[in-house]
Amino acid sequence: MATKSKFQAIRGTRDLLPPETALWNRVEETARQVFGTFGFGEIRPPIIEPTELFARAVGGDSDIVSKEMYTFEDRDESSASLRPEATASVCRAYIEHGMQQLPLPVKLYYIGPMFRRERPQKGRYRQFYQIGAEVLGGSDAPAIDAEVIEMVMTFFDRLQLPGVQLEINSIGHNADNCRRGYVAQLKAALEKVKDRLGADSQRRMESNPLRVLDSKLEHEQPIIETLPRIADHLCDDCKAHYAAVKRQLEMRGVLYRENWRLVRGLDYYMRTTFEITAQGLGSQNAVCGGGRYDGLVELLGGPPTKGIGFAIGEDRLILSLQAAQNQSPVTSRQSLDVFIAWMGEHAQATAIRAAKDLRNAGFSVELPPIEQKFGKALERASKLNSLYALILGDNEVAEGSWTLKTLADGSQRKFTEPALLDFLKDSRD
Ligand code: HAM
Repeated sequence: MATKSKFQAIRGTRDLLPPETALWNRVEETARQVFGTFGFGEIRPPIIEPTELFARAVGGDSDIVSKEMYTFEDRDESSASLRPEATASVCRAYIEHGMQQLPLPVKLYYIGPMFRRERPQKGRYRQFYQIGAEVLGGSDAPAIDAEVIEMVMTFFDRLQLPGVQLEINSIGHNADNCRRGYVAQLKAALEKVKDRLGADSQRRMESNPLRVLDSKLEHEQPIIETLPRIADHLCDDCKAHYAAVKRQLEMRGVLYRENWRLVRGLDYYMRTTFEITAQGLGSQNAVCGGGRYDGLVELLGGPPTKGIGFAIGEDRLILSLQAAQNQSPVTSRQSLDVFIAWMGEHAQATAIRAAKDLRNAGFSVELPPIEQKFGKALERASKLNSLYALILGDNEVAEGSWTLKTLADGSQRKFTEPALLDFLKDSRD
């Protein structure tokens, strides 16, 4: 007896199926459309990159690189990884293609899968999708930070994403009179309360004290509230930059909340950081994260370059839209316009031609591959939720008069071939 072989998608990965994929496509089309109006062009970097690229950019000590990357030895014995994010790839591409020669800043967006070996849960997958954008080169004018944020908010607005909340912060730059000085003070303050912190925070205190501020542990919250805050330790330039970003957001009518604990888990950030949450997501409610990363391109071997960007978690965006049942006409729209019920050899030839003409005119058409009795065919047409059935028997074909049945009310009308196409086009508009 044959044993049943049983394959399932790998843990943390999943199939996206129709009709849900229609919503994914609508979201992606809206992103392309909105980002296009802000002057962004699409980049499609590879999904595998040198491991070292992420270690350098995201940080060797970050959770993403140290625990979550899918890494393998490539045949020529260099180490490659599935990308856990794409900012590093975009910077690599910027350098590799000499994009600093282009009119600056260069504005790019990407849509595609990312891979992180995290513990799967609702809204958290090992293969997930991001819609991201990066602005590279040019200046670090606060208006750029604000416009990038305005663009994401416009996109969410267009999708009518429910309960959108933007949080912003500035984490300054890496100097003694700015973030480095603050981190030293933070560490000293943490030493004093060390015994009351959990194991994770005690570890982070050593490797990356800023990340302690991310803690969600209930009993650590009152302790964290007493810690020194970065806003009080920013250098004058970073302070002015942050104030100007806030002003620029206000000029654009973008509502924000300041969150001094927003530090983000990737090493490359400086100054502006932001996160956006939405409704219906439970604990994994961040739908977008981003920030400024001046210096990253240089760190990767390129010229000194300003940079800022964000990535939206598309899986979470879709979950939130679904939770609000905020589905657009695209998903609820009739997916089938015309089912062609045909019987007889002549009828099949005509049906094939009719299907071609109707599809060319943009209608979706189902053409049964083998002959079926009209009763059976009509049953199938209603099962497929078709708007119309076109009935073609040898008689109809000989007379040049075709019967169109509206399935919702069962009414029938006869048409000549050109009149039928006109009727369908009119009823669509
Ligand atoms: P990130 O915060 O690591 O930033 O990810 C951005 C978004 O991707 C998150 O807010 C979340 O919505 C989604 N996301 C992350 N991990 C998962 C997961 N395991 N499952 C589902 N969704 C997930 C970055 O990746 C930066 N590269 C963003 C950026 C671009 N900063 C500047 N430019």
